[in-house]
Amino acid sequence: PRPIWLTRHGESLFNQQGLLGGDPDLSPRGEVYARSLAAFVRGRARELGEASGIPGEPAWIPDDVVVWTSSLRRTIQTSRPLTQRSTAWRALDEIDAGVCEGMTYEEIQLKMPQVFEARAADKFRYRYPRGESYEDVIQRLDPMIIELERQRSPVLVIAHQAVLRALYAYLMDKPPHTCPSLPIPLHTVIELVPTAYGCEERRFQLAP
Ligand code: G3H
Repeated sequence: PRPIWLTRHGESLFNQQGLLGGDPDLSPRGEVYARSLAAFVRGRARELGEASGIPGEPAWIPDDVVVWTSSLRRTIQTSRPLTQRSTAWRALDEIDAGVCEGMTYEEIQLKMPQVFEARAADKFRYRYPRGESYEDVIQRLDPMIIELERQRSPVLVIAHQAVLRALYAYLMDKPPHTCPSLPIPLHTVIELVPTAYGCEERRFQLAP
């Protein structure tokens, strides 16, 4: 069985300051994660490819790994030490925080308390003004899920917290409304290997 690896981009300049959204570059720590991720995926693809192939004939080699990113710089930059041949999908872009893009949570609470409270009351359905809700994100991920299930090679998805919560919930058969609070930490690869009854999960924290 082929693995699906899910990871957030490496730490970005916005993550360092607690800012939402935007299209920032990776921080130096994020660059280090990108290099660790490349080494991890190459090693793990070889290992799992050999384990599931006939002896001397691995099921796949690191070059077979399909790499998907969002259209945002931080995910594309995270893919670069591994490959130049990643595919960028807008459907994998982070939840659109609309009028709150570029703000911190504290700033939202202070300047737009009604937004802050409404979202806290129903994070799954709350749609940011001129932005999206988790429900919206799940809808736009539909074609990605079809594409993901069609793949025969290992797939590495480099995306964002909210989007990965939604993908993870789908693949692990968690109720959709629970996805806004699922933990998807930075600098961690979530490996999901489909089995007859769902997915086997392992997590690899590659950097602090
Ligand atoms: O910027 C968006 C975050 O990755 C999503 O986090 O839905 O917990 O606010 P949140």
